[in-house]
Amino acid sequence: MDRLEFCRNLARDAGRFAHTAFGHVATSLKGRHDVVTAMDRDVERFVRGAIAARYPDDAIIGEEEGGPVGTERVWLIDPIDGTANYARGIPHYCVSIGYLEHGVPTVGAVYDPSHDWLYAAARGEGAWRGDQRLVVSRCADLLAATVECGWSTRRGTADYLALVARVLVAGGAVRRVGSGALGLADVAAGRSEAYCELHINAWDCAAGILLVREAGGHTSDFFAGDGLTTGNPLIATNDALCAALAEVIGIPVNC
Ligand code: IPD
Repeated sequence: MDRLEFCRNLARDAGRFAHTAFGHVATSLKGRHDVVTAMDRDVERFVRGAIAARYPDDAIIGEEEGGPVGTERVWLIDPIDGTANYARGIPHYCVSIGYLEHGVPTVGAVYDPSHDWLYAAARGEGAWRGDQRLVVSRCADLLAATVECGWSTRRGTADYLALVARVLVAGGAVRRVGSGALGLADVAAGRSEAYCELHINAWDCAAGILLVREAGGHTSDFFAGDGLTTGNPLIATNDALCAALAEVIGIPVNC
């Protein structure tokens, strides 16, 4: 079984495990509007255990337990992305598992248990939901574009409002539904034209970045600098609106 198959199966198994406590789990706060549940930690342990057993020499970085850096092969785990939705019983959350070789996203899987949707991609081989090939939207008109503007308290309110205002003034529609990984899957699947966030962590977006690139879209160079360890801004767009949206949003992309 190669890494893609392993990653797909693991994301699905972890998501099914997470879903056993969907909407009825105790929460605590890591910070303002930064929710964690016992299941975030349990699912991360489950995923870590499976990776360590199969690929003992690979590094693992997870949202809840962190991990070492500076290795050639690293797995990035978000055990529950969209935790606030998960805890409130809103069926919009996922498990995200990405794999990087020499800092380059190489394999990724995102599993949405509420819909039993399994997204996966391998570098140079394409992106899929189940057995359906993913292709980004062909929309070339900003007046018909939907942009998801991810939000967290890691950046200031004024900066977020300014971002939303730029998109609206340019004619786009804005949404924010609380899972960066699923927001990126939406771009890959052609359901929105872009996802952007002023700061996002690597475990949230490693798999989704690969989905978008392999579906014919573009992303900013998220893993530049300290992106792997401390996060970075992110934009992911379809091809047709890449240059226009990069300018509006203000995050550079090599379209
Ligand atoms: C968060 C979600 C949210 C995004 C934040 C993430 P979590 O992850 O993906 O949509 O805007 O940047 O931190 O806390 O639900 O795993």
